[in-house]
Amino acid sequence: MQLDLLAGTASRAAVLLRHTPTILVFDSGLGGLTVLSKTMQAHPNAHVVYAADDAGFPYGRLAESDLVARVLAVMERLVARFHPDLVVIACNTASTLVLPALRARFAIPFVGTVPAIKPAAALTRSRLISVLATPGTVARDYTRGLIASYAGGCEVTLVGSTKLAGLAEAVLKGEPADDAAIAAEIAPCFVERDGARTDVVTLSCTHYPLLLERMRRLAPWPVEWIDPAPAIARRVVQLLGQDDALSTVAIEAVAVFTNGTGITGPLRIALAGYGLAEVVIEPMPLGN
Ligand code: DGL
Repeated sequence: MQLDLLAGTASRAAVLLRHTPTILVFDSGLGGLTVLSKTMQAHPNAHVVYAADDAGFPYGRLAESDLVARVLAVMERLVARFHPDLVVIACNTASTLVLPALRARFAIPFVGTVPAIKPAAALTRSRLISVLATPGTVARDYTRGLIASYAGGCEVTLVGSTKLAGLAEAVLKGEPADDAAIAAEIAPCFVERDGARTDVVTLSCTHYPLLLERMRRLAPWPVEWIDPAPAIARRVVQLLGQDDALSTVAIEAVAVFTNGTGITGPLRIALAGYGLAEVVIEPMPLGN
């Protein structure tokens, strides 16, 4: 009896004292918000830092060596300031290149976001799939390796969009984004071959799910659009363990920008909608 009581006290103390993990979700800009919301739903008691390297945006245009150096430098600063227990690189353009360097440099787990080619190949019936991504992601050896490993028997169309990430940012900032511009960017994804049509498109830039409803409406025919965010959130739960429903601490959530000049009123409202009412600037001009 005495021992049972002690055991009960000890386990309650363990719950109260248990470390609340800090998850850092990182992207070049606002695209990682699509991953953040699924991660917060899956792990509602974690402290969350959303970091946008807007001084470096868009990553899709950076040379590979510059991008590796940039992400390492920004991550150095963020890890020193926020001490995350786990980092989600919510950016395909960075993940398809920088993950090995990050894992070699830091002793914390990194979860990456890479083109969902394996799920796309499992889902397609027509064997015509398209990867909609940044020019950086479609040029990566890593992406070609995924196709070789998982999409044998499929025709994979790589579409490197130069404008979609910027259009998604514009929408969140309350600026106009033309239907015609969005339609032109997604058009190369839709391929017809011998009576068959593309039936799966992977959203391989985290910005693109922000435009999903418009892309559905503007698509020449219906397709399955794969958003990797739920799979990323499941991986976070695997690594951090299942979250308990009850929280004993106030959850902190902060958005960090490396430039911040593009933060408009509508964007602040959008960030608050993602649970990010606090916004801080950690200035890191590109080239430093
Ligand atoms: N959100 C990023 C991705 O998933 C890319 C946007 C950019 O070009 O910076 O690839």
